This record gives sequence, structure tokens and C-alpha cells, in this order.
Amino acid sequence: MIKFNEETQTFRLDTLNSTYCITVAKKGYLGHSYYGKKIADDDISYLMRQSEYFMSDGEVFREKHTLLDFLPQELPTDGMGDFRESALAITNSNGNNGVELKYKSYKICDGAQTLPGLPSVFGKNGQSLEITTEDPVLGIEVHLIYTIFDDSDAIIRSTRIISKAKEPVYIKKALSASFDIDNEDFDIITLHGSWARERHIDRHPVHHGKQGVLSMRGETSHQEHPFIALIDHNTDQNKGSVYAMNFIYSGNFVADCQLNQFESIRLVMGINPENFCWKLNPGETFDTPQAVLVYSDKGLNGMSHIYHDLYREHLIRSPYKKAMRPILINNWEATYFNFDTEKLLDIAREASKDGIEMLVMDDGWFGKRNSDNCSLGDWVVNEEKIKGGLKHLVDEVNKLGMKFGIWFEPEMISPDSDLYKAHPDWAIQIPGREPGMSRQQYVLDITRKEAEDYAYESVAKILRSANIEYVKWDMNRQLSDIGSSKLASDQMGEYYHRYVLALYRMQERLVTDFPKLLLENCSGGGARFDPGMFYYSPQIWCSDDTDAIERLSIQEGTALVYPLSTMGAHVSVCPNHAVGRVTPFKTRGYVALSGTFGYELDITKLSPEDRSLIPHQVELYKKYSDLVRNGDYWRIASFSQNHEYDCWMSVSKDKKEALVTFVQVLNHPNFKTRFIKLQGLDPDRKYTVSFPDENQADYPEITLSGSTIMNAGIGIKRDWGDFQAKLIHIYS
Ligand code: DGJ
Repeated sequence: MIKFNEETQTFRLDTLNSTYCITVAKKGYLGHSYYGKKIADDDISYLMRQSEYFMSDGEVFREKHTLLDFLPQELPTDGMGDFRESALAITNSNGNNGVELKYKSYKICDGAQTLPGLPSVFGKNGQSLEITTEDPVLGIEVHLIYTIFDDSDAIIRSTRIISKAKEPVYIKKALSASFDIDNEDFDIITLHGSWARERHIDRHPVHHGKQGVLSMRGETSHQEHPFIALIDHNTDQNKGSVYAMNFIYSGNFVADCQLNQFESIRLVMGINPENFCWKLNPGETFDTPQAVLVYSDKGLNGMSHIYHDLYREHLIRSPYKKAMRPILINNWEATYFNFDTEKLLDIAREASKDGIEMLVMDDGWFGKRNSDNCSLGDWVVNEEKIKGGLKHLVDEVNKLGMKFGIWFEPEMISPDSDLYKAHPDWAIQIPGREPGMSRQQYVLDITRKEAEDYAYESVAKILRSANIEYVKWDMNRQLSDIGSSKLASDQMGEYYHRYVLALYRMQERLVTDFPKLLLENCSGGGARFDPGMFYYSPQIWCSDDTDAIERLSIQEGTALVYPLSTMGAHVSVCPNHAVGRVTPFKTRGYVALSGTFGYELDITKLSPEDRSLIPHQVELYKKYSDLVRNGDYWRIASFSQNHEYDCWMSVSKDKKEALVTFVQVLNHPNFKTRFIKLQGLDPDRKYTVSFPDENQADYPEITLSGSTIMNAGIGIKRDWGDFQAKLIHIYS
């Protein structure tokens, strides 16, 4: 519910359990007055008005700087005396900086707003607030847009900048959200990583000054993630306050936390202003992507539930969003580039016998690509490898009762390719400089319409040529050497954002032209695992690291914000190709079952012992996938914290059923039974607790009430050896 109180000049956004307030300060500045647990509809404007004592009521406004540097602001601007981090910086055509926004009007409407060209939350069961502010000197209007839904605690923010100026203005910084709150001994949580080690959780106390995360890589990145949370020092998985921000965007971002001289914290999120400058001509509009703010007083699990439900209900559009995904087998770790039709069909034949439902042909089927040093851009089937052509292969796979999927990397161009020979200028480059290669490839300049069309049409043509039901859209290097012969010199700062907009256009065309397609985004593993991509693909490849133990940390960090239904997870062979670790096939299966599930191995070479487990894993997936995809995820224990074991669970929305995964990572000597206290069940309901894959003598089925399971716990005996896992089914 969104309301405006004329008397107190306060906007109030009430979600299910939180309240967010904005108050118009004297002289028309927009102040932030409250964010936190839901409170009564009192006049809370005093929370902000106390900052106004620096402001004289008369004509002389002698302490403007002091006010602006002190006032909790809703969208802080550059150059006017708020010396903290700003959210908006604009320069006029004379080169003068400074933006001063004053409140003008507002409107409240039903439902969510769609941002042109950008992924946007959707849904009719909510409201949007649009507050119009203006800077008459610059001749711009800035609209602050907020959306809330009846079934969610998230607040979605973006800004729209409209030029009414006579000359162009230059937007140098346009963040999507900002708010100020008093410090309460907060810790900060961010997600950091690397290739094969994405989204590990990082938690440390907030210190004075600025701290945060960013990407300058042209994509979200393996290294840092557009997520930031402030949490009480005592907050744990199930209790305590959390304020979080996440960004529905797939390019350069910044998320900063700044603790200032008055012990006040500013949290901001948006497009990274470094190398950003957007020329806004008279009459034009610029929309920032959406940032998603969440407050939870139920710890990190409470925050995760809000994000998971929002993304499942209001961002993912795919017809697959709630549906069971086909169990796939991907040939990447099985063959790398060394495959042909016969090899793929051998894999498919064996896989189909065990109930696997889709063959995905990964990198290496086109041009003359037998290694990663050529042919990107030449999206023509290599008939020396794919003998008989693609349609023949797909038909043969279909005859086995399996679907067929294919890999692309449409945004790239190899220097050794026919495409590069024909269009060397289509590679992103700074004129006069040798562009830098990464994985021996350049990035295709998809901001050029002809290159965007070429790349899209190359994909579409292949998809039209056979019954292809899945696409893995990969991106294996990050952007550098930004130059363009097409953009004017005063528009080069638009490049990175234009690139992301072109990517979104291409994927929008893909899901429009092929509405039944299952699209999985990917970027050298999980560098594009971000909510922007959820708008186009219901699942994203989490990481090139398929080791079950490394995956515990990767999937924990990913599930902190994103639903399990989005996490691409496969069983692969051991020693694992990323870390060389040997883990039981059973454990690998259990860990992958918490994602979209599939295999990434040469099934024809698997040991009979491991192979014999596949039909059972397929059965487990069919039985529990609905629970995992659509239930509530609860983090129970974290190996990254306790260094011994990991445990998480999914509980059905009606609380009638749960699936628990326990992994004893390191054995603990002279230790008998560990009692694990679970979460999310109905305390008064009686449940059967069963260990479906364990010896019934060791783990007989028992009946317990939810309150006992959650407070006394269920017993897990110590196993011999490391990396042992258990699955526990709880049902009533
Ligand atoms: C990176 C992906 O993450 C892998 O799964 C695989 O598709 C390779 N690229 C292929 O080049």
C-alpha cells in the first residue's frame, strides 16, 4: 500500500512486513525518513525533520551545505554540498556540474512499470509511486519510481531522467537507489569470487569511509556481485535485521556503503559511473535499471525468501519458470572440442537408457573450431564433425526420445574467423591500438546494429534449421579496449550501457521468436548470474566448477539471493576437472539436485558402479524437483563457517513436505551423532522423517512433530570418510 500524507508531506510504502518513508523537506528537498520493520501509521516525519534545524525559515539559508551533508536523502545529488556519495551527477553543455532536485508532484498507479529496453519486474497485484522532482537550472526532471507488490516485502526502485533543457546535458552518474540510515553496529555482506569460485559470502564490520563492490568488466563478473547487505552484528540465518540491495542489470555496477562523520550510513547501487557519461538531448529520457531493496527482521533466510519469491513471481518470464526442467547431459567436460556425430549419439544412446532427457552439444560444432582459438562468429555447422548435418543429429537424438540443446557465444569474434576477415572493424577496439585478446578472442561490437543483427540472425537461423529446444548462451571474456567508430566522441561514455541494452535486445528477440525455448545464460561459468538475465532465462550456469565441495560455497552464496530453480548444476566425473578432488558420485548427485540438475560427463566411460546410480538420481530429481524449485529454501549450516559440514533444506509452501541435504565435508574423529535443528516446518504438524537412501537399520523412519524437529533436531550419524552426504525426506 502506498500513501501520501499531505499534512506531513510524507510518502509511505507499506509492504507485508516493512515500511519505507520519504518526506519532503523544507525548500523541497526529498528526505528519507524511515526504512525498517513495519510501523504504525504515525507521523514519523520528525525522524527527518530533526535534520532541518540547520535551515532557517526565513530568506537567509546560511547553512545549506551543513543541511545537505546531514539530511538523510532519497536521491543525493552532486555538487550542492552533500559531500557524501552522490546518486546523480549531471553536467550542462557549458561544462558546469551540480544538480539540485526539488519536489514537484507525484502519482500513484496500480501495478508495476515496464522500463523500455530493460528487464523489469512485472505484476498487477501491486502499486507504483512516481515522485517528480526538477532542477529548473539544468532544465531536467528526475522521476523517482518505486514499485511494491501485495505478496512481497521487496521495494523496487529506479529513476527516470527527462530533459526539458534547450541544450544537451551529460549524465555522469545515475544510480538507481540510495538511502541513509543510522549505524547500529552493522556488518556488511558482499559476494566475491573468481572463475570457478563465484559468489562466496564475505562478511565484515562496516568501517568509516567507503566500502563496496563493483564491476568494470562490461558484465556482472565472477569477481564481484551486484548485491550488498547491511546486517546487525548479531544477525544470523534466522534472526536479526538485514537491509539488502540487488541490481536487475548485467553490466558495470557499483554498490557502496559509506559510514560518515555522523555515524550515518549511505547505501547506494546503480550503473558504475566510471567511464559512464550519457548525452541526453532535449526531450530525451534516460531510465536507470531497477534496484531491489529488501528489509527482513528474520535474518538471512528471511531475506533470501523475499528475493527468491520476488524473482520467481515477478521477474522470470519463461514458460519453464515453475516447470520441471529436462534432465540434460552436456558434452563439455566429456569431450571438450573432440567430438563428432557418432560420439554425441553414443552419449545420447547411453544417457537415454538411464532416463536422461536432453543432449546439449557444447562448444566446438561450428566453423573449424577444434580448440578455443578460432571461429567465433562463423556460426556454420562443421559437417566434418557433425557428419550428416545438424538436422540429422537432432532427429537421431529426438528418435531416442530426447530433446536437443545447443551452445552459442554470439557476442564474440575470433581473429581467426571468416567474420573477422570480412569485418575486422566489428571487433571492439580503440582506433590505432591493437585490441587485447582474451581466450584468443575479441568482443563483437553489438552496439553496431549490423553486428547485433548478424549475431542474432546467426543464432536464429541455426534454431530454425532443426528441432532445437534449449540454448546455452555463453560469454567467455570481458570487455576492454572500448572504442567505436560509430559513436560520436561525446557519446563514448555510453558504450558499456549500450552494449548491455544490445544484449537485452538480442535476448528479447530470441525469447519472442522462440517462445518455447529453454534459455540458459552462462559466462565462463557464472559471471552473468544476475537478475537481469532472469528476465530472459529461467536458469543460469552457476560455475565451471562442478566439484561437489566447492559447489557448497558457490551454491550457498548464489542461493543467498537467487532461487534454487535458477542454479545450473551438473554431476561430473572425478578427479574433478577444476580442483582434482574425488568425491562420492552420490554426494555429487545430491548437490546437483539442488539446482536444475544434469550431467556433464562421458557416460560411455563411467564406472559401472557410478553408472548404476544414475537411474536412481533421475528418480530423485523427478520426485523432489518441484519441492526444490518452488519451495522455500532454508540454510541450516554452512561449511564455509563451521569447516565441517553443510546443510540446507527446501520446504513446500504448504509446509507439508521438506527435503534436507546434509554433507559431512570433513569427518570428525570420535564423534557420534549430530542433531540438526531444521526450520520452516509447521510446529504442530506430525511428520515422517525418512532417509530414503540409507540402510533402514541405521535410519528407521520415525514420526515427529515439526516443533521437535525444529527444536530438538534429527540425528545424523558420523560416516566413515570425508564428503559423505545424506538426503532426508520429511513429509506428512
Ligand atoms: C564456458 C562455460 O561455462 C562452459 O560450460 C563451456 O560451455 C565453455 N565455456 C565452452 O567454451
